This record gives sequence, structure tokens and C-alpha cells, in this order.
Amino acid sequence: MAPATTSILTALSVCSQALAAAVEVSLAATTVSPVNSVANASYFVSEIQQLTDSVLRTLGSHQSLFNFGDANLSLPAVGTCKVYPGDAAWPSTSQWSVFNQALGGALIKTVPLAATCYPAWSEYYNQTACEEISDDWTVSYLHAADPASIMWPLFEGRSCLPTDIATSSNCTIGGYSSYAVNVSTVAQIQLAVNFARNQRLRLTVKNTGHDFNGKSTGAGALGIWTHNLKDIEVYDDYRLGDYRGPAVKLGAGVQAFEVYEKAHELGYTAVGGEGKTVGVAGGYVLGGGHSPMSSVYGLAADQVLALEVVLANGRFVTVTEQSNSDLFWALRGGGGGTYGIVTSLIARLHPKTPVTVSTFSFATSTNVTADTFWAGVDAYMKRFPANADAGTYAYFWIIKLGEESYEFLMNPYFAVNHTVAEFNALMAPWFAELDCLGIPYSPNTTYYDNFYEAWDAGFPLETVGSVTMMTGSRLIPRENFVNATLFHQTAAAFRSTVSAGYSLLAFNLKAELPAGYPASAANPAFRTTLMHAITSTSWYRNATNTEIKATMDTFTYDVLGEWRKTCPDSGAYMSEADIQEPDFQQAFYGDFYTRLYALKQRWDPAGLFYAPTAVGSEDWEVRSLDGLPDQNGRLCRV
Ligand SMILES: Cc1cc2nc3c(=O)[nH]c(=O)nc-3n(C[C@H](O)[C@H](O)[C@H](O)COP(=O)(O)OP(=O)(O)OC[C@H]3O[C@@H](n4cnc5c(N)ncnc54)[C@H](O)[C@@H]3O)c2cc1C
Ligand SMILES: *[C@@H]1O[C@H](CO)[C@@H](O)[C@H](O)[C@H]1NC(C)=O
Ligand SMILES: *[C@@H]1O[C@H](CO)[C@@H](O)[C@H](O)[C@H]1NC(C)=O
Ligand SMILES: *[C@@H]1O[C@H](CO)[C@@H](O)[C@H](O)[C@H]1NC(C)=O
Ligand SMILES: *[C@@H]1O[C@H](CO)[C@@H](O)[C@H](O)[C@H]1NC(C)=O
Ligand SMILES: *[C@@H]1O[C@H](CO)[C@@H](O)[C@H](O)[C@H]1NC(C)=O
Ligand SMILES: *[C@@H]1O[C@H](CO)[C@@H](O)[C@H](O)[C@H]1NC(C)=O
Ligand SMILES: *[C@@H]1O[C@H](CO)[C@@H](O)[C@H](O)[C@H]1NC(C)=O
Ligand SMILES: *[C@@H]1O[C@H](CO)[C@@H](O)[C@H](O)[C@H]1NC(C)=O
Ligand SMILES: *[C@@H]1O[C@H](CO)[C@@H](O)[C@H](O)[C@H]1NC(C)=O
Ligand SMILES: *[C@@H]1O[C@H](CO)[C@@H](O)[C@H](O)[C@H]1NC(C)=O
Repeated sequence: MAPATTSILTALSVCSQALAAAVEVSLAATTVSPVNSVANASYFVSEIQQLTDSVLRTLGSHQSLFNFGDANLSLPAVGTCKVYPGDAAWPSTSQWSVFNQALGGALIKTVPLAATCYPAWSEYYNQTACEEISDDWTVSYLHAADPASIMWPLFEGRSCLPTDIATSSNCTIGGYSSYAVNVSTVAQIQLAVNFARNQRLRLTVKNTGHDFNGKSTGAGALGIWTHNLKDIEVYDDYRLGDYRGPAVKLGAGVQAFEVYEKAHELGYTAVGGEGKTVGVAGGYVLGGGHSPMSSVYGLAADQVLALEVVLANGRFVTVTEQSNSDLFWALRGGGGGTYGIVTSLIARLHPKTPVTVSTFSFATSTNVTADTFWAGVDAYMKRFPANADAGTYAYFWIIKLGEESYEFLMNPYFAVNHTVAEFNALMAPWFAELDCLGIPYSPNTTYYDNFYEAWDAGFPLETVGSVTMMTGSRLIPRENFVNATLFHQTAAAFRSTVSAGYSLLAFNLKAELPAGYPASAANPAFRTTLMHAITSTSWYRNATNTEIKATMDTFTYDVLGEWRKTCPDSGAYMSEADIQEPDFQQAFYGDFYTRLYALKQRWDPAGLFYAPTAVGSEDWEVRSLDGLPDQNGRLCRV
């Protein structure tokens, strides 16, 4: 950041030395005791660098920018908006500079990734770089490694896209955060939280940017980018409360592949998602987190034993079943970007487990009519209870190839704790029906003696970055697969969806809370589900915003409406959801919503944390510039 004039530069350099010295002095003080007795584990190095009242006092005349929010706060008046770039109250250049100095230079002004493609961004315009960005746009690593980019730019506002997928001829910061803090210490997060709250800025938290609904971005926001908090520590004999056993402490930026590698190296199994690059201790665990291991061990959120959290008032606390127990419940499944910023968490590890992985497919053909094909699918869905109860997880797709032409892809079946023979025995009733129906299939089945290699072989890196599609989902309960009436209604709904051209991507799993685990806020619909069903809609790149909105509405109300009718009391998984989900409070949080909302008022009374569809988000609206439900606009109280 270039300060406006030489005189400010001089003033700030002096100031920055003072701040740096102040921070160092306090770090020396806190470093004395890295052991955190509440979590019964050491803080990470990033966590012993904390902002305290005494550090604050050393900031002199700048202290008021960074004061803690200990006073009683409440939501601003209806109609009040978060301070936006260009507003008189927007921090001055020199205040941003002071902030950057206090952060030790970790403040990054947002330049959209694809700015290199636009001559108007003359400082960055570079056709070679633009081609690289365009080629890698669908690769999740590109967006995870950027301070502000997200993987589903539709809900940012499509404000700056690679030219080959662009829908406008210009590039703006749009719904990306205006600045991001590249955090490597807790003190930096505390400074950012206090700065945003005191200056009434919008605040966003971005880890990897995987969120499907724009929850990690926002126009005019100060972003907190947790990606570089990469520490991992494994304890063979961790004890806390009633728990005694192996556990892993993960920094907020650790991604699935990283914890899996570490656990594998030490002979354990970790509960994480199937997606390779998802941020485990970020939105994934906070939203519940389903895993290839869920049918055996429950949700990822259920594994959590302790969390370190920066609260909306800027204070840093440890959260366990015994300490801040209401937050312990709410953070595990109540949603990311809502109650605080998690800097690390400690989760149970499990023993090394063998897995059999199988992929196969079948399709309509001259010998297999559409009715026969769907009979083969029904035969599979009848096996959902038995297969999930056997501890297995399956990821399958059903796609329409043409009129009355369909394909089923098992990609993959993940048979935890099964040998090939045991897997074949589990599949036998279904395969016998496929044989009987004359449906050919040929499984490619491989046994692995550990989770990591099975997961690595079974789940390839998924593509991201589309701006011409949106997803929606439903958690279909067990009763829909055991009650004949409901079964027929459910099967008919899926056939109708796929026949209309909407692909089905689904998981057969269960995610019950294991006996003896403390209750969590994860969507209660998870506890009775046997199927997490996802579908998507799409439109042409040249579609107008009005056409896109109409397509979205048909999808939300008609297509997903058919699914809801099959299980009106169930819900949907917030992290793989339709951003327009009607009554999202019931769908994503079920009966827990009232309690979660009360905790939001308690822990974030002023509404510092906002994310679309998060608890308390109904108190705000984004005045989107293009009429779509995206984050490109002012955030205001309603
Ligand atoms: C390719 C792909 C594969 C996926 N696979 C799975 C899967 O197997 N199982 C599954 O359950 N889900 C899966 N998901 C969904 C995934 O869990 C969500 O997208 C999740 O929100 C990602 O979290 P993140 O931190 O990586 O992403 P981000 O988009 O960076 O963050 C998501 C949300 O969490 C908040 N957040 C992030 N970090 C923190 C923090 N430290 N403290 C507080 N809030 C925070 C953000 O503000 C935001 O609201 C997948 C998604 C994709 C795109
Ligand atoms: C906050 O409000 C509560 C009740 O409204 C009151 O008891 C408490 O003293 C207040 N705290 C501060 C710091 O003003
Ligand atoms: C343009 O981008 C390429 C690829 O990133 C880089 O190697 C090159 O140095 C850049 N050119 C300029 C002038 O910055
Ligand atoms: C952005 O591009 C559109 C055409 O796609 C143009 O009409 C509009 O004026 C441009 N906006 C700005 C701010 O340059
Ligand atoms: C972010 O900070 C880390 C140090 O924690 C540094 O290695 C990295 O280069 C920084 N990234 C950016 C984009 O500035
Ligand atoms: C903390 O861990 C130590 C060593 O594993 C154990 O002896 C002690 O009982 C634990 N304390 C608590 C409070 O769980
Ligand atoms: C259809 O069945 C016939 C007779 O069993 C067989 O010869 C043929 O290969 C089958 N065709 C396909 C596409 O499976
Ligand atoms: C795996 O299966 C065996 C029996 O086949 C059982 O004893 C063991 O507990 C199972 N392990 C897990 C992790 O479920
Ligand atoms: C079967 O699966 C294994 C493991 O993924 C793979 O290496 C092999 O190529 C597959 N074989 C076929 C015929 O697809
Ligand atoms: C099956 O579901 C239908 C429709 O919800 C319901 O009317 C019926 O009572 C259920 N049957 C049983 C045996 O539960
Ligand atoms: C939009 O794109 C589609 C597919 O490329 C094309 O068929 C259609 O004619 C286009 N519509 C307009 C209005 O350009």
C-alpha cells in the first residue's frame, strides 16, 4: 500500500516501528506459557501472538481504531448499511496504512485474479498471465491460494472473469472483499475484527473459497484470509473431559488432503470430506461436514473436542464441552462465518481402516429400456438402509444422455472396513436384481488397507469456477427408503428430475451422532438421512440476468419443490445448498434455529459476522447490483 504523501510515509514509518515493537514486547510476555490448560494442549506458534489490553495501550492515538468490543452492543437501526467504499466514513488512506502497519504488512488490497485480462487494469494487464488464469480457472488450488477469489464467482457477482467465460466486457472488484488480511497470527485476526467492528465495515472470512453460496465474500468487506494457518499436530494420547485417545490439532487453513496425508503417515484415519482441497477446520466442520467415514463415525463436526476462537468482540477464547459450552455446541455444525473465527480445532482421530473402492456404471441401451434402467436404480435405493448401516458411503451420478436415455455412474462406492469379498456380499442383492433385469455392469473393485490410498484413488480433484450453473440439495430421510408409499414417491421424483435434464449427484450415507459423543448443532436432518441428493441447473453464457433469475426460480421452487414434497420435515445441507432455499432456517438448521439465533445475539449482538443463509442473516440484505442473489452490493439492516 502506497501512502499518499511523503510526510505521511515518514509519520507512518515511525509509527510502524512503535507498533512492531509493541507487538513484540507483548509476544515475549505471552510466549512464556504456550500451554493452554483449558484445551489441554499447546497453542500453535500463531496462537501465542495475541492482542491484549496492554498491547492496545501501546498504540497511543491509534488505539481507538482497534479497541475491543466489550461494551453492550446491538444491531444497528433498520436501514443502516455497513460502511462502503466511497462513503464518508470509509477509513482514510492513512487509517488503512496504520492498520497495515499494525498487521506487520499483512494487508492486501484486492486485485481480482482475472484483472490480468483487462487493459483497464493497466498495472496488471498481461496476456500471458491472463491465459494462465483462464487455463487454471476450474482448478480449486488457484482460488484457494488467492486472498479474495472464490470458487463459485456467480454469487460474488461475476464481476471479473477470464475473457473466455466473461459475461461483461469489464472487470471490477465487485463482490470480492476490498482488502484481505493474510493472517499468520491470532493477533492479526483480533486487530482485523476490532478494526472492522469499530469502523462499521463489513467483515468476511475466506479460507479456501469453496463455499457454493458466496458465504466467503462480500462487496466492500474487509476479508480475513485463513489459508496460511497450516499447522498440524497429532497427539497419540489426548485427554479432555471424557475423551482419551488419539487426536489432531488443525490450523484453520489445513485442507483435507493435508490432514489425510499426516494421519496416514502416523497410522490413523481422520474424518474429512471427499473433496481434496476443502478447508477442514473452516466452513466444512463448522457447517457439519459429511465424510466418506460418516456412516461409521458421524459428521466431521461430531469429532471436534476443542476450538480456539476469536470472538466478535475481538477476544480470543478456548471452546470445549466444559468451557463456553454453548459455543461448543453452536460452532460444531451451526455454520461458518457466524459466531467467531476459528483459528484451530482439535478433533478425534481413528485407527487405520481398510477400504474397498469400486467404480462401475450402467446405462440404457438397445437391451435396457428406460423403465428397466430405473428399475435398476430403484433396486439400488432399496439397499440404502442396509448399505449405510454396514458403514459404507457411496457417491453416484445419474445423468440424462438423450430422450429416454440415461447413465448411472458409481463414482465411487467407498466400502469402509470391507474386503472385496465382503463388498461383493453387500452388493449381491442389488447385483442379482441387475442381472435379473438384464442390465450389464462391470465393477472395478480394489482393496486398500488404509483410508488415504482408497480416498486418493476414489475421489479425483473436482472442477470449480462455473458461472452458468447453481446447485441445490435435499437430505432424504431413512423412512423414504423403508416405507413403500414414500419410496415410490421419492423414486418418481428423482426420475422426473433426471428426465427433465437435471443430473442427480448423490451420496448414500448415514450421519448419526455416535453413542457417547456430545450433541452438536449440525442440521438434525443429517441424523435421520440415508441420502444427500444434489442437483443443478444451468443456463447459456449469453442469458440475461432476468433469464438467469427465472431459471433459478424454476429450479428452487419447481425442481427442488418436488424433492421437498417427498420429505417436508427434513432439510438440506447448508454447505452444498440452493442459496434461494425457502425457509432456510428450517431447512439448514431445523429445530435448532431458535437456540442458534439466541446464541448469535449473545455472541455477536452487533452482527459483525454476516454470511448469506447463516444464522441471523435474515436481519440483513445485500443490495445486489444485478438483481441476482449475490454479494455484489451494500449490506444493510432490514
Ligand atoms: C469441490 C467441493 C467438494 C466438497 N466436498 C465436500 C464433502 O465431501 N463433504 C462436505 O461436507 N462438504 C463438501 N463440500 C462443501 C464444503 O464443505 C463447503 O464448501 C465448506 O463451506 C468449505 O469450507 P472452506 O473453509 O473450505 O470454504 P470457504 O468458502 O473459505 O468458507 C466457507 C464458510 O466458512 C466460513 N469460514 C471459513 N473459515 C472459517 C473460520 N476459520 N472460522 C469461521 N468461519 C470460517 C466462511 O466465512 C464461509 O462462511 C465441497 C465443496 C466443493 C466445492
Ligand atoms: C450489559 O447489559 C446487561 C443487561 O442488559 C447489564 O447487566 C450489563 O451490566 C451491561 N454491561 C455493560 C458493560 O454495560
Ligand atoms: C506476464 O505474466 C507472465 C506469466 O505469469 C510472467 O512470466 C511475465 O513476467 C509477465 N510480464 C510482465 C511484463 O509482467
Ligand atoms: C461495463 O461493461 C458494459 C458492457 O458489457 C458497459 O455497458 C458498462 O458501461 C461498463 N461499466 C463500466 C463501469 O465500465
Ligand atoms: C501470506 O503470508 C505468508 C506468511 O504467513 C506468506 O508466506 C505469503 O507469501 C503471503 N501471501 C500473500 C499472497 O501475500
Ligand atoms: C491433560 O493431559 C494429561 C496427559 O495426557 C493428562 O494426564 C491430564 O489428565 C489431562 N488433563 C485433563 C484436564 O484432561
Ligand atoms: C443385447 O443382448 C444381445 C443378446 O443377449 C447381445 O448379443 C448384445 O450384445 C446386447 N447388446 C448390448 C448393447 O448390450
Ligand atoms: C471393522 O469390522 C470388524 C469386523 O469385521 C469390527 O470388529 C471392527 O470394529 C470394524 N472396525 C470399524 C472401524 O468399524
Ligand atoms: C480399475 O481401478 C484401478 C484403481 O483405481 C485402476 O488403476 C485401473 O486402471 C482400473 N481398471 C479399469 C479397467 O478401469
Ligand atoms: C408411509 O408413508 C405414508 C405417507 O407419508 C403414511 O401415510 C403411512 O402411514 C406410512 N406407513 C407406515 C407403515 O409408516
Ligand atoms: C445464446 O447462446 C445459445 C447457445 O450458444 C444460442 O443457441 C442462442 O441463440 C444464443 N441466444 C442469443 C440471444 O444470442
